Amino acid sequence: MIGARAAFERCLAELRALHAACPAIASFAPLPDSLAEQPVMPHDIPAARLMEEDDGLFSDGFEAMRDAFIAASPHAQWRETYKGTRMGPDFMNRFACYCLVGSGGPFVSDSLGAYVVYMPPGLYYPYHHHPAEELYFILAGEAEFLMEGAPSKTLRPGDHVFHPSNRPHATRTHAHPFMALVLWRGNMSVKPVLTHPDGEP
Ligand SMILES: [Fe+2]
Repeated sequence: MIGARAAFERCLAELRALHAACPAIASFAPLPDSLAEQPVMPHDIPAARLMEEDDGLFSDGFEAMRDAFIAASPHAQWRETYKGTRMGPDFMNRFACYCLVGSGGPFVSDSLGAYVVYMPPGLYYPYHHHPAEELYFILAGEAEFLMEGAPSKTLRPGDHVFHPSNRPHATRTHAHPFMALVLWRGNMSVKPVLTHPDGEP
């Protein structure tokens, strides 16, 4: 296992390479040449193991970033954004997200936040929203993305979807898992909340 700082530097190098190569990422937000660093207090969750051991995360050109995010997993502060909400143990044990740039992550920036999101097959992440504008860029696997006012779409490696500020959106996996790089811009201080806190959808 490589050290925490080396693992996170590798993730940042992959983010810089993708930012330089992909117009959708580059046009979403600038990535400063120098990012402030901060120590990360690791926090483990069961879903981290699912991601680390998942052999279904097929990719198509984004293997290096996928593998960098997996290698950094043991050092990450895995989030429990929906602890204490109606989301039960099945979701809490299988939905995985950690921060690379932003609160709780190894780097900080005013211009963007960057997160890793993983879901195993057969999981539904209900409608939620947040003030920050958001870009999901699929690194591996496949998932269905739903957004109020738009048709659902199935995304695979190299595809992306934009979520406007406070527009409810949801994600569903079917036969495959997925891993995405998720970018935020704008008001990044407010966490996501469930759009229907008392029940489905
Ligand atoms: Fe979101």
